[in-house]
Amino acid sequence: MAHARNLPVPAVDSVEEKEHRLENLLGQVRSCHECELGKTRTNPVFGFGSASARIMFVGEAPGYHEDRQGIPFVGRAGKLLDQLLDRIGLNRSQVYIANVLKCRPPDNRDPLIEEINHCRSYLEQQISIIGPAAICTLGNFATKLLTGKSDGISRVHGRPQPYPDFEKTFIYPVYHPAAALYTPSNLRALEHDFDNLRDLLSNNTQAQDEPVPLRSDPVVETPQGKADPEQMGLF
Ligand code: URA
Repeated sequence: MAHARNLPVPAVDSVEEKEHRLENLLGQVRSCHECELGKTRTNPVFGFGSASARIMFVGEAPGYHEDRQGIPFVGRAGKLLDQLLDRIGLNRSQVYIANVLKCRPPDNRDPLIEEINHCRSYLEQQISIIGPAAICTLGNFATKLLTGKSDGISRVHGRPQPYPDFEKTFIYPVYHPAAALYTPSNLRALEHDFDNLRDLLSNNTQAQDEPVPLRSDPVVETPQGKADPEQMGLF
């Protein structure tokens, strides 16, 4: 991790201030019609959880159930996310869950570049307000957006990455839970990465100013040319 970098740190607000700022941002998202998704959504899906969470989870975009309820990860992938959180001793109210896109793409198609570009400032502001120690990116879209790199999830999952905007925040990419629903090898990788995330977070608590250690076990490289199991497009 590049901890010698001279990057800004997020503002240290009280929980009440953070909640207030998130509430203001939610108001902006509710009235957002910057892209076509504003016309087809039932509800925007802003985010859920603690305004002072130490860890954020960032998915791709709302699906059918999320669009109906206005809450992230309430479908089958969300049930798996809940189980993974439980596995590492956390629940939804202790973390913060958001998405790259706040509105559902029709028929659950992949996000378009222009949609991501319109929406990214909302996510970046959420991160800046909450100021988490870790951002767990779920799948390719969140990983590529927040790392600013094109490396696919098969290559980088389970490997902490610097968050380019804040020195003390690291990104931890994992497979998207939807990619593990029917693929046992992805589920095993996801469970393994969550177990390591628990260790990383406890190390990070013990030594806030120490660099977050990289995982020591070898990373299985994706063979050249093999596509990621999900979300194949670059954006
Ligand atoms: N998949 C996502 O990426 N986000 C959700 O909120 C639900 C499913």
